[in-house]
Amino acid sequence: MRFIGSKVLLLDRIKEVIDDKAPDAQTFCDIFSGTAVVARYFKEWYEVSSNDLLYFSYVLQRATIENDSIPLFTHLKEKTGITDPLDYFNGKEKKEMEELSQERRFFQNTYAPTGDRMYLTDENALRIDYARCTVEDWKTAGLLNDDEYYYLVACIVEGIPFVSNTSGTYGAFHKTWERRSSKRYQLYRLDVTTNNKSNHCYNEDGVKLLKRLSGDILYIDPPYNARQYLPNYHVLETAAKYDYPEVQGVTGQRKEEGQKSDFCQKKQVLTAFDNLIDNARYQHIILSYSTDGLMPVEDIEAVMKKYGKPETFQIYEIPYRRYKSRKVKETDRLKELLIYIEKQVQPCI
Ligand SMILES: C[S@@+](CC[C@H](N)C(=O)[O-])C[C@H]1O[C@@H](n2cnc3c(N)ncnc32)[C@H](O)[C@@H]1O
Repeated sequence: MRFIGSKVLLLDRIKEVIDDKAPDAQTFCDIFSGTAVVARYFKEWYEVSSNDLLYFSYVLQRATIENDSIPLFTHLKEKTGITDPLDYFNGKEKKEMEELSQERRFFQNTYAPTGDRMYLTDENALRIDYARCTVEDWKTAGLLNDDEYYYLVACIVEGIPFVSNTSGTYGAFHKTWERRSSKRYQLYRLDVTTNNKSNHCYNEDGVKLLKRLSGDILYIDPPYNARQYLPNYHVLETAAKYDYPEVQGVTGQRKEEGQKSDFCQKKQVLTAFDNLIDNARYQHIILSYSTDGLMPVEDIEAVMKKYGKPETFQIYEIPYRRYKSRKVKETDRLKELLIYIEKQVQPCI
């Protein structure tokens, strides 16, 4: 999924650091999970916990981390004869979906030309509405268990960026249709790695959550600038919640205020980071950050050394691939950082 700060291109580098520093580790926590791509990757080797403030991120995690295989949809099959719900939705013709009542079509009425916006075409928005409403109906009718419900909602969400008329985020839509938006929307079939371990997902403030978790490796990938995530991904959040929110403005943002991250606010970020590292009961701590971030590297170092073993502190610099084409001097180039420290973990009392 296209997502600001996705670490899909850094997975091998993170693994190199972990293999070097924590060869005996058994458990891995991805406390700012976003697309869940890091948690999914490391699920092959570790018992994983993951977390994010965004509900749609939680749904992606719940479907692929806490689920330990693709659900079987046994009850749905028995009662409706639908053997593969993804094929069922992806094969629907437009006229079959027209049976969905107008008032249930939140996406078409809000994010498509019917609602005077151009995030999605009318037909694709209706496809999303149809799938999302049907999944809710199946859940209410007892045809889906939680594992099946989250898997289907995640497949619905994951498919949306492929047909969205945006440049990646949902802070705005294009005023003319991009080629991708005319493709037919499809639910995206997510893979689920089986590791036969007790993996858990959360949808909370990571700083507070860390008071209740402990383990071997903590991977921390906070936002590094002032750009809040919820306004940039509000359409995906609404697809996951499907809660008919009040929206406002040309962009149709959700009206709610409550979900501002301290990590995106200059005044709050250092205290939040200090509390995070203080609360962490993990032996190996790895932070992803940028030399362009709100926290200066010297402040990060001071906090990590305050709670960790100072002699183990190490910074790995990775040139920022996406800035390669910019005309900047080598020395000015932004760097992505992986920052490691070992922490003496107090045993739980
Ligand atoms: C840089 S992104 C993580 C990207 C992720 N590693 C990936 O590869 O997709 C930062 C994430 O932190 C989340 N976030 C921000 N503040 C948070 C907090 N206090 N607790 C939990 N998650 C938070 C955001 O919602 C966002 O998904």
